[in-house]
Amino acid sequence: MKPIVAPFPTARFRRARQSEAIRGLVRENVLTVDDLIWPVFVRDGDGVEEPVPSMPGVMRRSVDRIAQAAVEAQALGIPAICLFPYTDPSLKTEDCAEAWSPDNLSNRAIRAIKAAAPEIAVMTDVALDPYNINGHDGYVVDGEIVNDETVEALTKMALAQADAGADIIGPSDMMDGRIGAMRQALEANGHRNVMILSYAAKYASAFYGPFRDAVGASGALTGDKKTYQMDPANSDEAIRLIARDLNEGADMVMVKPGMPYLDICRRSKDMFGVPTYAYQVSGEYAMMQAAAQNGWVDGERIMLESLMSFKRAGCDGVLTYFAPEVARILQG
Ligand code: PBG
Repeated sequence: MKPIVAPFPTARFRRARQSEAIRGLVRENVLTVDDLIWPVFVRDGDGVEEPVPSMPGVMRRSVDRIAQAAVEAQALGIPAICLFPYTDPSLKTEDCAEAWSPDNLSNRAIRAIKAAAPEIAVMTDVALDPYNINGHDGYVVDGEIVNDETVEALTKMALAQADAGADIIGPSDMMDGRIGAMRQALEANGHRNVMILSYAAKYASAFYGPFRDAVGASGALTGDKKTYQMDPANSDEAIRLIARDLNEGADMVMVKPGMPYLDICRRSKDMFGVPTYAYQVSGEYAMMQAAAQNGWVDGERIMLESLMSFKRAGCDGVLTYFAPEVARILQG
């Protein structure tokens, strides 16, 4: 696009900013409830809602309360909810078998949501970290995170989620070959319509700190995730990863974290034109909430402005802990 600009005063840009009516008329992007995926944390128990200290306003909920939250989200018009389990340390093992147990927290929550709020799409997380004694997304053998054995385990995990009724599988593990393996397994097991939203460009980021508290993985994690998650310095590699995952059968792709990686969202959208999502992660949320709580910024305005930035960068939607709050504002 080549911008045509008449000289001043023929062109006065401020004409287009003079009133709310005119600003609305020329606005290029809109944020709607259809753009929201709400990540939630599920824990054991009954009738439990427990605040996550590093994420003000975010709760860990027992399965019954998750179902209730899903009913509320559905009523607000939020199209999808994404489940993350806070697993009891006693269920964490080296072989991570709890990950594909049909009755693990996450799978129980999927069934409860499907029963209570059948219209909302349920998305899952596929990675071993909530079940792994050492906090990694993959199996650790002699200090190495092994790829192919992990992919086998993740495929079983994805199938168990699909069996429980998940609509969208979200592999967040960054192993190589997992999308193809999962797509094949879903096709072979009668889950033709289950979608895969690949965490295709996921960076080894310090912005995940509060999330690891929320799922109880901070204490467990030994070392870092740099041998599987991306180097924040890379951009071309993100494009290659997204192309690879699309070729292997991903229906949608994600860039994560969100705000520090808007350039990747834009590049990806321009290049592939596929449904593209960003994850506004826990650290981004925590920073904004902390500043707002101190009165240093207007919390509601930065929330809406940050979410609009994803639309401007070409995203079709955003995973955000703000989802119910934004939906309430957007619904007036
Ligand atoms: C784990 C996973 C992480 C997040 C989503 N899935 C953390 C990590 O990779 O360590 C982060 C989400 C957030 O920070 O909000 N597979």
